[in-house]
Amino acid sequence: MNIVHISAECFPAAKAGGLADVVGALPKYQNILGHKASVIMPHYYTKFRSENQYKAVFNGGARLGHHTYSFQVFQLLNENLGFDIYSIDIPGLFDRDKIYSYPDDTERFLTFQIAALNWLNTLKNIPDLVHCHDQHTGFIPFMMSKVWDYQRLKDIPTVFTIHNGQYQGQFGFDRIHYLPPFHSYFYGLVEWDGLINPLASAIKCAWKVTTVSPSYMDEIGYSMRGLESLLRAERNKSTGILNGIDNDVWNPETDTPLEKNYSIKTVESGKKANKNWLCKEFNLNPDLPLFIFIGRLVVEKGADIIPDVVYRMNTEHPGEQNILILGSGEPHIEQGLLKLEADFKGTYCSYIGYNEKLSHIMYAGADFILMPSRVEPCGLNQLYALRYGTVPVVRRTGGLKDTVIDLGDGGFGICHDQVESWDVINSINRAKAFFSRQNAFKQNRKTIMEIDHSWNRAAQEYLELYKTL
Ligand code: ADP
Ligand code: GLC
Repeated sequence: MNIVHISAECFPAAKAGGLADVVGALPKYQNILGHKASVIMPHYYTKFRSENQYKAVFNGGARLGHHTYSFQVFQLLNENLGFDIYSIDIPGLFDRDKIYSYPDDTERFLTFQIAALNWLNTLKNIPDLVHCHDQHTGFIPFMMSKVWDYQRLKDIPTVFTIHNGQYQGQFGFDRIHYLPPFHSYFYGLVEWDGLINPLASAIKCAWKVTTVSPSYMDEIGYSMRGLESLLRAERNKSTGILNGIDNDVWNPETDTPLEKNYSIKTVESGKKANKNWLCKEFNLNPDLPLFIFIGRLVVEKGADIIPDVVYRMNTEHPGEQNILILGSGEPHIEQGLLKLEADFKGTYCSYIGYNEKLSHIMYAGADFILMPSRVEPCGLNQLYALRYGTVPVVRRTGGLKDTVIDLGDGGFGICHDQVESWDVINSINRAKAFFSRQNAFKQNRKTIMEIDHSWNRAAQEYLELYKTL
């Protein structure tokens, strides 16, 4: 099968979060299973771009309303990835170093989608299946089936994966002329609640809709920023497929940023060396259990309660644990975290920013990872943590509920139900009690490192789904 993924992110070319990790691994595993999977993404002007070689494969134009952009499709020359990346360079829109958060993101990603289809439309061998990811590619299923220019592509099945339903990309009907011409009879297929909504359009028009965990699929039927009834209506064509992880990239035995590599056999000495490095770097006490948080500092991740958790742990239970945070996001959360550093030197530190290398050492050196998410469609951090022998402390929601079983239920992690400081604190105290039972704690490390969350299973599940189309 010739499968084309279309996405705003793809590791290692451009990453803001888990979307990149998924799109940077699933095609590789699909190729291993004997198919031909590739990725189409925007050509951002990042460090990755300047450090890698590309070959131009197509020149074209994309019209957005009254403006025509010229674009160029580049193929990344890198045989080690295990799949092809085609990135679309659209000067004026993507010649910037960040992926998102520009005022013209609507124009940027809509032009990207039009350019991608203009290019696919010219290919002699059109794909057997197009798999789109998140709202930045949400108009593709609609355009392939209803836009006059793309009638050649209308019989190609489309799959749309919702990685995060919080972001929907809505805009007003004053910009309806941005979409290439189609019969006005189909306005309803791009509309939701009086606005043009790419996520809603994808849910209506894709042949199949998936979410990145089964529990998230159930949850969005009653909570997804106004789209609940649509999701319930389209439930028959929707399914939840739990993400995997790329075991080649996330492997404590070979991971290059680590201070010391380790296997299940050498986990104790390996984790100790990485923890010592972190404690030295961030002025923490290596004898205490180390709790980490890695991620976007946003309300969705429960990051807003972390400053309070840090304050209360250090005042109510001083000197009993270390807490180390890596993340960036809402300025008030960043400032809240930074402000606490002066008061709790020696047991608390935060690194505000994005640092891929540091994240790997943290997964390796920590004892526990905190994930008090309000919404977590899948969550990859807990899966990486398990592979590195770090115990997840999570709120039971979405993918966290599907992948972490509480110690009290015969499992290996610590779970709570509320996004409230008291509930997280309670879990941290349970974790510390577990840490003090060193024999059981060490045995659990080995157990969790053996859990297999590799992409082999999930890649196969996607292929089964494609075959039904
Ligand atoms: P989301 O995609 O919602 O942010 P996921 O758990 O799916 O959450 O994936 C987050 C990914 O981004 C993981 O690979 C995590 O290690 C990485 N990550 C998040 N924040 C940072 C950061 N500040 N520095 C380095 N890596 C980060
Ligand atoms: C989104 C979700 C996260 C998920 C990731 C990859 O960013 O927030 O839970 O793991 O996509 O699917």
